Amino acid sequence: MNLRVVTDAQILDPTPENIKIAAEHLKNGLVVGMPTETVYGLAGDALNESALTRIFKTKERPTFDPLIVHVAPPEGRELGFVEMLERLNLVDPSPLSLPTRAKAEALMQAFWPGPLTLVLPKHRDVPDLATSGLPTVAVRMPRHPVAQALIAAAGTPLAAPSANRFGRISPTSAEDVMEELGQRIELILDGGPCEVGVESTIVAVEASGTVRLLRPGGIARDAIEEVIGGGLVIGNDGAIAAPGMLASHYAPRKKLHLLAGPVGKLGPSEIEKIRSAIGKSRAIGLLVFQGDVGAAAESLRRALGGMRVIATALSEDGDREEAARALFGELRALDGSNAEVLFAEPCPDEQGLGYAIADRLRKASHAE
Ligand code: TXA
Ligand code: MG
Repeated sequence: MNLRVVTDAQILDPTPENIKIAAEHLKNGLVVGMPTETVYGLAGDALNESALTRIFKTKERPTFDPLIVHVAPPEGRELGFVEMLERLNLVDPSPLSLPTRAKAEALMQAFWPGPLTLVLPKHRDVPDLATSGLPTVAVRMPRHPVAQALIAAAGTPLAAPSANRFGRISPTSAEDVMEELGQRIELILDGGPCEVGVESTIVAVEASGTVRLLRPGGIARDAIEEVIGGGLVIGNDGAIAAPGMLASHYAPRKKLHLLAGPVGKLGPSEIEKIRSAIGKSRAIGLLVFQGDVGAAAESLRRALGGMRVIATALSEDGDREEAARALFGELRALDGSNAEVLFAEPCPDEQGLGYAIADRLRKASHAE
């Protein structure tokens, strides 16, 4: 299939008519920029191979990196979520024991709709392209009303990776999607700025009963532990390809260096490292985690003996949710500024959403 080149995508308000137009696109195997509460997704019919191919090509994403399948809340009769996913021919829970199945159900009851993705044994009808040939499928029920309305109108589950080119910064507004993919897709539904700002937390519920955290995200680790009564295993065992876990990801075009601490507390050897990273650059970008951004920029400028510093802060009072919401947009802004090299203060701890923020900053700066 050849990529269709269009001049520019249209950004549409999420009126009922526009949602219908977008749903028609999806029914025809095309892809659409879709808002969710975490980040914007590039949505396509999860059961249509040509739509899936289009998603991979549009993003330039390798096909070994599986997609997340998005479902809408059920209308009417109350079913358990596992049963609902079974009836949608997405999940085949038969490899799971009853207690294991109950753990999956409890997680979905606690966090759906919302920023939790579950990896469960897949139903044979799910195309291998969606799951990269894995025997499991990742499913999520977003809580953004526009995502819910679009999935319902399309009448099919939607595969949706983040709507950025592979490896780059995830989009948290319709304009970001335009910047990333505007020349490659036709429609972007504008659902406003994303409320969470980092991707969903991915948890695999395995046939052995193990519950494994594959990607930190919008639901904190402690909240998951609480629901399953402890025993959450962190990270993949090497057996599963979970490329959200590829070392380099979420990256700006410019080189990003993660600092050892807040700029006010850097020692002489750290300042020396910054100096050598700066080289001949005339302006640098600084992502301040918390506190007074002007003071932080001034303190770095002085430590370097004068230098143009373009600084922005994630949250003045260090609120993790606010910081997560701001993270990708501020990184994108610095990437688009006159700064030639970027530096970021680390997240001071990994409490709550701090865990996901620290993960994203590490991966965005991996090139070092
Ligand atoms: O918040 C989100 O999850 C966003 C929005 C758009 O919903 N989507 C998103 O998709 O982050 P994406 O494609 O950027 O990340 C999907 C990741 C894969 O990279 C992989 O790590 C994991 O989900 N994944 C998908 N299927 C899997 C499977 N069967 N087993 C293990 N990991 C899987
Ligand atoms: Mg992504």
